[in-house]
Amino acid sequence: MPRVRHIALVGMAGAGKTTIGRILGEMWGLPVVDLDEIVERCTGRSVVAVFDDEGEAVFRRHEAAALHEALDARSLSIVSCGGGVVTTPVCRELLRAPDILTVWLTAGLHTLRDRLLCSSPERPLLRDPEALSRLWAERRPLYESVADTAVATDGRVVSVVAREVARQSRGVFPLSPVPFRKDRKQSRILRVPLPEHSYDVEIGPGVFSGVGAAAAALGAEKVAFLTHSHLGEKFPEVRASLREAGLEVIELPVPEGEKAKSFSVLEEILQKMALAEMRRDDLVVGMGGGVVTDLAGFAAAVFLRGVPWIACSTTILGAVDAAVGGKTAVNLAAGKNLAGAFWQPSRVFIDTFAFKTLPERQMRSGLAEVVKHGLIADPEILDIVEGWGPSPDLAALVNDAGEEKRFVELVARSVMVKADIVSIDEREGSVRALLNYGHTLGHALETACAGRLAHGEAVAIGMVFAAELACVRGGIDRDLVDLHRRLLGALGLAVSALPADLVVARPLMRRDKKHRKNQRFVLLSGLGTALVAEDVCESEIEAALVLVAQS
Ligand SMILES: NC(=O)c1ccc[n+]([C@@H]2O[C@H](COP(=O)([O-])OP(=O)(O)OC[C@H]3O[C@@H](n4cnc5c(N)ncnc54)[C@H](O)[C@@H]3O)[C@@H](O)[C@H]2O)c1
Repeated sequence: MPRVRHIALVGMAGAGKTTIGRILGEMWGLPVVDLDEIVERCTGRSVVAVFDDEGEAVFRRHEAAALHEALDARSLSIVSCGGGVVTTPVCRELLRAPDILTVWLTAGLHTLRDRLLCSSPERPLLRDPEALSRLWAERRPLYESVADTAVATDGRVVSVVAREVARQSRGVFPLSPVPFRKDRKQSRILRVPLPEHSYDVEIGPGVFSGVGAAAAALGAEKVAFLTHSHLGEKFPEVRASLREAGLEVIELPVPEGEKAKSFSVLEEILQKMALAEMRRDDLVVGMGGGVVTDLAGFAAAVFLRGVPWIACSTTILGAVDAAVGGKTAVNLAAGKNLAGAFWQPSRVFIDTFAFKTLPERQMRSGLAEVVKHGLIADPEILDIVEGWGPSPDLAALVNDAGEEKRFVELVARSVMVKADIVSIDEREGSVRALLNYGHTLGHALETACAGRLAHGEAVAIGMVFAAELACVRGGIDRDLVDLHRRLLGALGLAVSALPADLVVARPLMRRDKKHRKNQRFVLLSGLGTALVAEDVCESEIEAALVLVAQS
């Protein structure tokens, strides 16, 4: 194949062409050309208006002209095509040109329907239950006839699909992907792309010194700074950088532990912010683990009906789970996180230097969530963990200068999985549920053991249970179950539970607040791919529980 000038993404609506295109564009630093946007620019009307007013035949002519313009451009680009582009013979010819790499993003009917229901439930295509399957059957041979390669998207998060496209383009597309933008020495900046509020996550040793500049760039004059007192002393860089940037810092010390996530603490904080006469363009900064960032985010969400906030993570769990994604909350007597809001941060800073002082148990608990991200979406995470050997000394590892780069990579990959999923499904309408892998039994065990198990410890057992369950149902093979036990066990996490704890946890699983009508389980369908199963029967659950009980 000659040198490729453009990558054209084709596939049904809902296959992920726009999002994958955007990620590839960021990876390679290339423009992403959307055919619909060219049609809109040339006609001065929306695609829907052209379609409705002039009919499909005229729209297809405009689309063919747009494809011609996009593929004729001299500079490299990613071209994201409309789902029906392949129905026009001239477009099929253009897509078959030897210097165009046409990638067909495939997806099964169920996947497409779920994604469309989530992103655009009003679509006429969804009104007739047969329409989507008819179109799907008609267009499949057409996609096949133009595609140089096909990449499956079912059950895969977008970064994994994008990397697969990049892998398949290697050698024919004259650029090597750069998966992360690299600014500071050793640090990585990832983008969380959201429709209304995208933001950067900076990860690496020493990144806290950049918080002040970021806060000033957001236009704040005053900053409500929430942290535990001991963390403020351990990591003075955030406060110092805020002051250096000329900002007025309002110190708001937060009590240790879950009790900080309460309405009484929240009220005190809001009161102090009001007394300091903070305004809507001022800022909240929370530095700590998930407790502090959950509380800081919720305070920002409700103060003056919403002010910007920055999350500065000092725990692994906080970094890879709590800080990114915009879920903020306090607890009620009736349960954890029952009062909250989706309120995205404006920036996230994860200073891996802070992990050096983390208690080992806290580290293990956070790494369970990292492994979860590897299992559901990015197996390269698992390669890094497996590379540490059968019983790594975590404290030594995080203090080893030689390991720093790999550690940053690990955290960055894990954050990227969360960012990808959140960018598709900000409000947990569909794929965000995959992040609950291992959490159905995990939450129940956490409650059943009343403080004996840390969150990540309970989730580790929950993941082994979920793997056994998927295996019982024939969805994955035993090697993958063994991989769960090997990786989690190597990190010093328990991979089985006491039968008595499981007896208490069993009924609690049904009460998990994330369940709707049927009991839902997130299960793997292979390494790096997960799905939500709603048809799990009691006998399968019982069989998996037996396999996870401590012998
Ligand atoms: N918003 C979300 O999406 C989300 C996701 C997961 C968890 N959470 C929430 O996160 C909370 C748990 O977070 P966590 O595990 O980070 O616990 P945490 O915030 O309570 O931190 C654990 C302990 O470690 C200490 N600590 C923090 N950083 C340290 C450091 N660098 N060195 C030494 N000690 C340090 C803290 O002071 C605390 O005592 C829960 O409330 C949970 O509900 C939220």
